[in-house]
Parts: sequence; C-alpha cells; structure tokens
Amino acid sequence: MGYSLALLVVGAALLASHLYPWIHLSGYLTTIEPTDNKQCQRIEGPLGFRNCEDIIIAAPGIAYTSCDPARDYDNMVMDVHRPKEREEQGHVWRIDYMSDPPTVRKIFEGSSDFHPLGMTLDKDRLYIINLAHHAPASVEVFEIVSDALRHVQTIRHPFIHTPNSISSWGNDGSFFFTNDHHFIRGIPKVIENYARIPLGSLGFYNATSQEAYKVKGGLLFPNGVECDKSQSTVFVAETYKMEVKKYAVVVQEEDGKLQVSAAAVDQIKVPGTSVDNLHYDKVSGDLIISGHPNGLALVKKCQHATEQENVPMPPSRIVVWHTTSTTTTHTQSKMETVFEDDGTTYGSASTGATDHKNNKLLISGLYEKGIMICDRSL
Ligand SMILES: *[C@@H]1O[C@H](CO)[C@@H](O)[C@H](O)[C@H]1NC(C)=O
Repeated sequence: MGYSLALLVVGAALLASHLYPWIHLSGYLTTIEPTDNKQCQRIEGPLGFRNCEDIIIAAPGIAYTSCDPARDYDNMVMDVHRPKEREEQGHVWRIDYMSDPPTVRKIFEGSSDFHPLGMTLDKDRLYIINLAHHAPASVEVFEIVSDALRHVQTIRHPFIHTPNSISSWGNDGSFFFTNDHHFIRGIPKVIENYARIPLGSLGFYNATSQEAYKVKGGLLFPNGVECDKSQSTVFVAETYKMEVKKYAVVVQEEDGKLQVSAAAVDQIKVPGTSVDNLHYDKVSGDLIISGHPNGLALVKKCQHATEQENVPMPPSRIVVWHTTSTTTTHTQSKMETVFEDDGTTYGSASTGATDHKNNKLLISGLYEKGIMICDRSL
C-alpha cells in the first residue's frame, strides 16, 4: 500500500512537472493578439516557393531562403513521415525584395535528396544544413558566384547528427550549430521529445581541424543559433523552454578548443512561445526571435500539412530582444512584439529577419506559401 502510494505521489509529481510546461507549449494559455499587419505583403513566386524555413539577408534588398515543399509529408525535426506519391526536393531561392515587383529566383536546384533547413553566410559562402531523407544530415557549402550557387563542399561529421541551425564563426569557415535532439528517429526520439528530456546540444565545427564537438549539452530542443557582430556572444533558442539564452564565447588556452561559458550570461523568456530561429541585426544589435505561440496547432499541421487536409495554419509570433538597449537593465522589458498573427495572415513563422537600411522585416513560414515582407521601423 505504502509502495503504491509513493508511486502515485511520484507519478503525480512527474505528471505535474511535465504537464505545466506542456500546457504552456500547447497554447491553451496563450491568447493571440494580432499586431497591425497592414504593412505586410506576401511575396509569392513560382511553384515550390513555399515551406521556407530560414532567411539570410545577404545585402540590403537581397535575401536567400531555404524552402522544402517535402515538409508537407516529411518533417525530419519532428520525425513525421507520411506516405506520398512522389518525392519532392527542396530549393534555395534568391529574393530581390526591393525591386518593384520583388523578384524570386531559384538559385539552387536541389540535388536528388536536398531538404534545406538552417543557413549561414560567411563572406561569399552559404552554409546550408541538409536533412536528407535517405542519408545522414550534412552541411552543404556553396560559393555565391554572380548570383548563382556553386557547390564546393559537403561537411559530414558524426556529431553533426540532428543539425537545425548554424551560425558562422571566425575566418576559416568554422561555425556553431545546434543538434535539436539526440536521437534521430523512432521511439527513443518520441520519448526524448515528449518527455522533454534535455539531450540537445550546441556544437562547434572547426573548419581547420575538421573537428566537431559539443560546447554545451543538456539543452531542451535547441533551435536557432546566432552569433553577435563581435562573435564574443552566441544566442541559442531553446524551443521547449520558451526562452533564448545568451552565452559568452571563450576560447580555452590549454587545448585551443572553443568553449562557451558554463552558465548563460543572460536569457529572455518568450511566454507561451516555442521559439524557433534567431536573426541578429548587425546594425541595431537587435535579436529577432521567431516562434510558435500555439505548439499544439503546429503539431497538428505537421501531421496533416497538405492543402487537401485543410488544417488551419498555426499562429506566428516574432519578438525583438533589444540586446544593446541601455534604457533599462531589466532584460525582460527589452522585449517587443513586432509581428503576431493567428495564422490567417501568415502562420507557422520560423524566421524573422530584419533589413535595417530598408526598414523591412522578412518572415518565413514552415507551412506557408512564399514569404512575408513588412514595413517595420525597428
Ligand atoms: C581549430 O583547429 C586548429 C588546428 O587544430 C587550431 O589551431 C585552432 O585553435 C582551432 N580553433 C578553434 C576556435 O577551436
């Protein structure tokens, strides 16, 4: 009797400690307060210009975005796989958004198993995570030559096993990356994901030694990663913690290996929001955080994403962390919502990226057609 009571108590405690975050993540407690989105316009393009995950602003007026229509059937991050008639490929698109009308051009016709996710730009090179369906994940390196992409390298490493986001660091093609989970697929991944076991990591790839290693473990669904302009700081979004952490980057003298400080130097909560990608605005020092304020709606969409299934588009929320603001020392009050929508205007936002010069905010959505462009004076 005593034993089963103890079991019951432990069970109830476990349930409660897990239930609480799940209720927050699910969106039950979150009310959507749409911003005034009249200054936003959808940029549409050719067939296949949809399901875009990441956006890179290469220069004022010019953006690259990674899009994968196959996400409607296969979501590698959430381990959703559904029967389909044919395999579609992902592509990278170049958007000249300040021309009138904006132009959208496919610049990389995906190879046979190309499903791009996070991207980073290092001088004239674009590093793109590929979550191939029939091969281990990789980072594909492309050179931008006169507006086209030339493939130069494939980086594969056992520790780059579930890469989600990537941010270049240093001068030799090195980068930080997140592994959103430890397990790649199947029951272990289901348990890791739904029991909220923090097995995700922040990793570093040293391009000179071609080594990849863990710089920070124990993360709960780490997603977007971005360095600041000086590269002395790295920001990591933890989806299931609904927060973004700021770490100081420290190069350890003894072994020449890069470490991030053991404790985060700062963090910001985005209440009720499964935070996704990050974008650091080098001009303003703002960190643009994109996220999903209704996790349950996103999971539903994930599992029934085709147009015929007619599942409502999950809502979007994009907030700005004014990281360099000196008007207050209180981190939480340095946060401002810049885009919020119930999914009817533009849902499933995974990235918000700002072009400071042109006062634009660009938004990509995991299950949306095209991308969104808004007038914003941030
Ligand atoms: C990368 O590896 C090279 C060669 O081993 C080493 O000299 C360098 O310090 C490493 N850089 C970092 C940031 O770890």
